[in-house]
Amino acid sequence: MTTQTKKRAKVFSVVNQKGGVGKTTTAINLATALAMNKKKTLVIDMDPQGNASTGFGINNNERQKTVYEILIDEFSIKDTIIPTKISNLKIITSTVDLSACEVELVGVENREYILRKAIKDIVSDFDVIIIDCPPSLGLLTINSLVASDAIIIPMQCEFFSLEGLSHLLTTLDLVKENLNNDLVISGIILTMHDKRNKLTEQVENDVREYLQDKVFSTHIPRNIRLSEAPSHGIPGIIYDSKCIGSESYIRLAKEIIHKENL
Ligand SMILES: Nc1ncnc2c1ncn2[C@@H]1O[C@H](COP(=O)(O)OP(=O)(O)OP(=O)(O)O)[C@@H](O)[C@H]1O
Ligand SMILES: [Mg+2]
Repeated sequence: MTTQTKKRAKVFSVVNQKGGVGKTTTAINLATALAMNKKKTLVIDMDPQGNASTGFGINNNERQKTVYEILIDEFSIKDTIIPTKISNLKIITSTVDLSACEVELVGVENREYILRKAIKDIVSDFDVIIIDCPPSLGLLTINSLVASDAIIIPMQCEFFSLEGLSHLLTTLDLVKENLNNDLVISGIILTMHDKRNKLTEQVENDVREYLQDKVFSTHIPRNIRLSEAPSHGIPGIIYDSKCIGSESYIRLAKEIIHKENL
């Protein structure tokens, strides 16, 4: 008789405290591309803005049990998972209620570990879990980082991005030292890339020189089709699978499958 070890999902946080850099667009399209590659995928929407939930076409009235219930009410995580229209792809949604968590959890012991503990119950049900973080380094993001094996950092090629990145890397070191020793950077993904812009090229060169193989070789171009998709409630790579933005996210998924041995 052979005993087979059950595979454990690899957990990724898509994180950057800077707003509007393409975190949610990356989480949605990467997760969809992974699901299309037959990886059993779960998206966790850790942002009170709920953009990932909306991007998958899940209305507010369909968000009955959300991340909030996991963090505050210790609700069973299994009962918060709902399907999306895409096969192999499920989601835990969020609503604006989640913004109260930072305050409601003050004084709760081990509040940084709540999501990590909850995820333990479902790690063998998925191949990949992708957490879409809010644009801050507060308790919601810390819960995500503590629950993760690796992080993916979307970054726009702009001057101030480098400053933001160094602040983020310092926070990561602190989380690694104090809360999750095993956390690693999977990679930085350059988003909204505009090859006609000289500054883009300069920032890209600097980032690649400084962080070397920590930067994914795929970058995501600025592409209007990707920004149109959320208003239709479907991921860009399904809305228009042939556009240059979708092709890039499909390539990124392949790069990550290979790099992370998914
Ligand atoms: N490659 C792209 N090309 C064109 N538009 C894009 C691209 N990526 C993202 N966008 C658009 O840029 C805006 C910000 O993207 P997104 O919501 O993914 O960023 P975010 O980092 O999740 O933002 P927040 O910090 O508010 O959560 C959105 O309107 C989105 O549609
Ligand atoms: Mg977002």
